[in-house]
Amino acid sequence: MGRTAALVPAAGRGERLGPGTPKALRQLAGVPMFVHAVNALTESRAVDLVIVAVPPASVDEVSALLVQQQFSADVSVVAGGDTRPESVARALIGLPADVDVVLVHDAARPLVPPELVSAVVAAVRQGHLAVVPGVAMVDTVKEVDAQSDVTSTPSRATLRAIQTPQGFTREVLQAAHAALDADETEITDDAGMVERMGVVVHVIPGHEEAFKVTRPIDLILAEAILAKRRAAGAV
Ligand code: C5P
Repeated sequence: MGRTAALVPAAGRGERLGPGTPKALRQLAGVPMFVHAVNALTESRAVDLVIVAVPPASVDEVSALLVQQQFSADVSVVAGGDTRPESVARALIGLPADVDVVLVHDAARPLVPPELVSAVVAAVRQGHLAVVPGVAMVDTVKEVDAQSDVTSTPSRATLRAIQTPQGFTREVLQAAHAALDADETEITDDAGMVERMGVVVHVIPGHEEAFKVTRPIDLILAEAILAKRRAAGAV
């Protein structure tokens, strides 16, 4: 059995969060968001090494920050790209030869429970080529046209909101990235690229604390969850 790597795209600007520091470097409970994410990945014990893709201008700052941390896995930093797929592709380049399972985890999902990380790795090792965590939709989802008129309402029962970490065999993830055209801008996750190759993507139960910190209200929720964990002695 080979090793398991986690790639952490953390190079987004986080504009929906408001102006300021790149999102993944913003602090939650005094710790940069991407450090929370790396901690969750390494605490799962299912991940052997982590590669974080950060804004090119932040590589030195992040490298210096990482030196001060104690992780139970190797953690390295690469310069990310202009789009999320580009950031993931840049992290993929540095993958050691003995890695056979790869997770991709958004730095913007800092509170993912380590148990969810382990469950994704286990499902890939059990034979699924691509695995994503998903949760039931709370809202009804509608499709609209350019005039904002509703064109359809898919049945909520068949919809899932997809989170990360997403797990793949190395071969499948590399093939998906190799097949991607540089000018494709609609790609929001790695599983979507894998689906287009005709590979079945398996959904396992996600977790409400694996939500993506996107808007200012998400920062309030994340701080509240961290306070609850601290009170329970979990951090
Ligand atoms: O923009 P979105 O919220 O979908 O970003 C998801 C993740 O992808 C975030 O962790 C973000 O830092 C990362 N990302 C990246 N490189 C980009 C854009 C987004 O690593 N150019």
